[in-house]
Amino acid sequence: MNEPRTLAPPERRVATVSGVERLGAYDLITALDRFGPSDPRPGQFYMLAAAREWGGGGDERPYLPRAFSYARARVESDGLALSFLLEAVGPGTERLSALAPEEDLALVGPLGVGFRPPADGTRPVLVGGGIGAAPLLCWQEELAANRGSPAVRLGFRSAAHAQAAALFGPSAQVVTDDGSVGRQALVTELLATELDDDPRATIYACGPPQMLEAVRAFCAEREVPAQLAMESGMACGFGACFGCVVPTSNGYVRLCVDGPVINAAVLETALVAGTGH
Ligand SMILES: Cc1cc2nc3c(=O)[nH]c(=O)nc-3n(C[C@H](O)[C@H](O)[C@H](O)COP(=O)(O)OP(=O)(O)OC[C@H]3O[C@@H](n4cnc5c(N)ncnc54)[C@H](O)[C@@H]3O)c2cc1C
Ligand code: FES
Repeated sequence: MNEPRTLAPPERRVATVSGVERLGAYDLITALDRFGPSDPRPGQFYMLAAAREWGGGGDERPYLPRAFSYARARVESDGLALSFLLEAVGPGTERLSALAPEEDLALVGPLGVGFRPPADGTRPVLVGGGIGAAPLLCWQEELAANRGSPAVRLGFRSAAHAQAAALFGPSAQVVTDDGSVGRQALVTELLATELDDDPRATIYACGPPQMLEAVRAFCAEREVPAQLAMESGMACGFGACFGCVVPTSNGYVRLCVDGPVINAAVLETALVAGTGH
């Protein structure tokens, strides 16, 4: 089977920020990529860095680029408008969240391998936790264009985080930890209801490790195929540093090359060492 992987040009290139939108607790940053491939696959990611003020300044070393799934890609006359949904959790994401229109964004990508089609005879069900909703947005759009709208089930911490759900349209079901939007529930409860109604599904999940592990264990128990978009610390993003390895039944794999989307059936656990959220 052909892997859903568009290869990145090897060099770092510069895109121009064209839009910055605050969505409650998150930011949606859009940048025009004039020189990269126009067909990234949903689930693939880019290594991003602000072209200016990236690192401590003066004689300090700049930060490493950070990994981000693309949330949307639109072909325009002068390039590809790439959108990223960010949560500011540290210095890199804070700087990216402070980007302004016309600023330069350095990027490498698309990287990794994206979501594979649903198993025969199953319908796709997309399950997102928090900022993990990001790669599901472009996957929802692609599925809707080719197979009809998929079920989308999203869980967020609070109403501020849940504002991102508006990107998915009114059919997305939303729950929150504090009950401020939808029911007070975990998104895995929505998944259980969905599979009780009709177990013939392929699950696509992205979110914090504890959520991914709950999805993995639940799908393993019910023998439902699942693809997990996973995270780990990524220093290089293209297979050189081995900082992103996870154990699978096929041995250790590098999430940046063989993932970030991993078939849940090859994992004993989706809890990745060293990830903090
Ligand atoms: C393939 C991939 C796709 C990603 N997509 C997105 C996205 O679409 N939107 C988004 O906001 N973030 C995404 N991330 C996470 C993002 O890369 C990290 O949050 C970012 O690197 C943090 O950088 P920082 O300098 O702001 O914070 P740091 O100082 O590096 O980290 C701040 C906190 O976040 C934790 N952390 C850092 N990196 C990760 C990670 N990869 N996984 C879990 N915890 C981490 C740290 O333990 C620390 O507690 C993705 C990561 C990967 C590997
Ligand atoms: S991030 Fe370097 S090998 Fe994966």
